[in-house]
This record gives sequence, structure tokens and C-alpha cells, in this order.
Amino acid sequence: MVKKIQLGVLISGSGSTLQNFIDQIKAGKLNAHIQVVISSKYDVAGLDRAIRNNIPTAVIPYSHYKDIDSFSSAITRELDRYSIDLIALAGFIHLYKIPEKYLGRIMNIHPALIPAFSGHGYYGRKVHEAVVNSGVKVSGCTVHFADNTYDTGPIILQRAVPVFFEDTPDTLAARVLKEEYEAYPEAIRLFAEGRLQRVGRKVKVLNSKENYKQHENSQNSHYQ
Ligand code: GAR
Repeated sequence: MVKKIQLGVLISGSGSTLQNFIDQIKAGKLNAHIQVVISSKYDVAGLDRAIRNNIPTAVIPYSHYKDIDSFSSAITRELDRYSIDLIALAGFIHLYKIPEKYLGRIMNIHPALIPAFSGHGYYGRKVHEAVVNSGVKVSGCTVHFADNTYDTGPIILQRAVPVFFEDTPDTLAARVLKEEYEAYPEAIRLFAEGRLQRVGRKVKVLNSKENYKQHENSQNSHYQ
């Protein structure tokens, strides 16, 4: 049986992604426990959602730090207080410089089909605005391992949705969000089951049988 995965969740805003995790855990669809929610801003709705659900919170305000290195070190110090298997970036809009020990153990969700409409400055509604204005016919969401630049880490899974002529950023966002709510928990489940194998830039999703063989060879294959 796969053990309950221990999560740390990093947020910067409304926390709708966090709420989805909470709902899926309560519904028994995601075998996880959220150890801590860390926000890069005070007074965001995501913090209220965590507090309402008795999840420990911390605020590491981005604006209080002189650079990404000191901001990232403060986040690492907070994460280190817990025993965390996987860190989920959930509407987190800053770069977190990942220390060696957490490499391969941080995921992000992006509301477009990476590498399109991604990178620095592309987050939340801005992404959907750019998509709608560009005239593309397909968008979607991407779950990927985070690395030390924006939206470039190895892709775990993607889900596509149509973009209609009449779409506004809001109607598109709602369609994409529906897919995000399935995709992110699915990626976390695959990670927890040891079924994500990194091969260079690519991620192979192992079937359960392959996973069994993997574990015979190496207990930690999915952390490579
Ligand atoms: C989601 O659409 C997520 O894909 C996006 O923020 C929204 C969730 O925010 N993340 C990014 O754009 C990261 N580049 P919330 O959880 O604060 O509601």
C-alpha cells in the first residue's frame, strides 16, 4: 500500500489550487497530508483557507527580502521544520531557488501548455489573456517538476482544452481550471506511487508493473 504523502504547499494568492487539494483529501481521492502552507504575501485568501482547515501556515513576504537567494533560504528554513515528501507550488508566482535536497521533489502547475505562454511574467489571468489575444485554438494546463528557472522543468502531464472565438480570459480560465483540478492531484498520486521516472528532460510515467520492477532495483528511482 502507498503511504500517505506529506505535502508542503507554496501559495501567493487566492489558494484555489490549495482548496482543491483540501477537498480531494477530504473526499478520499488524494492520500495526502498538508504539513504546511507557506505564503509569499500577507492577507491572501489562501491563508484563510489553510487556517480554516487547521493547516499550519507561515508567511515569507517576498517584498521583505533583498534577493531571490535570501527569500529562497527563508522558505527552505521553514520547509525544513517539517518532514515533507513533495512541495507543491500552487499559484506561487516567484522563483524559489531549490536546494539540492528538494531537487526532483517540487512540482508546479501552469495554466497553459508549456512551452507556450510560460516563463517570467506569465501567471494566472495574464496567461489566459495572452492565449485569448493570440488566436490559438488550443490551450490547457501543465504539471511539471520545478527547476531553477520559470516553467522549464521536466513535464509530467498536460491536459488540453479548446479555445473558442468567443472566449474571454475568464471563460477560458474556468475551462482550464477544471482540468487543473484533475491533473495536479493525478501527478501527486503518480509521484506518491513512485511512477515518475526522470530521464534527462523527459518524465516517463511508469505503469504499476514497471514501478514494481523499478522498486526492486532502486527504492528511490523517482527522486533521481
Ligand atoms: C492556477 O490557474 C495556476 O495554474 C496558476 O495560478 C492559478 C491558481 O492560483 N499558476 C500560475 O500561473 C503559475 N505560473 P490560486 O491557487 O492562488 O487560486
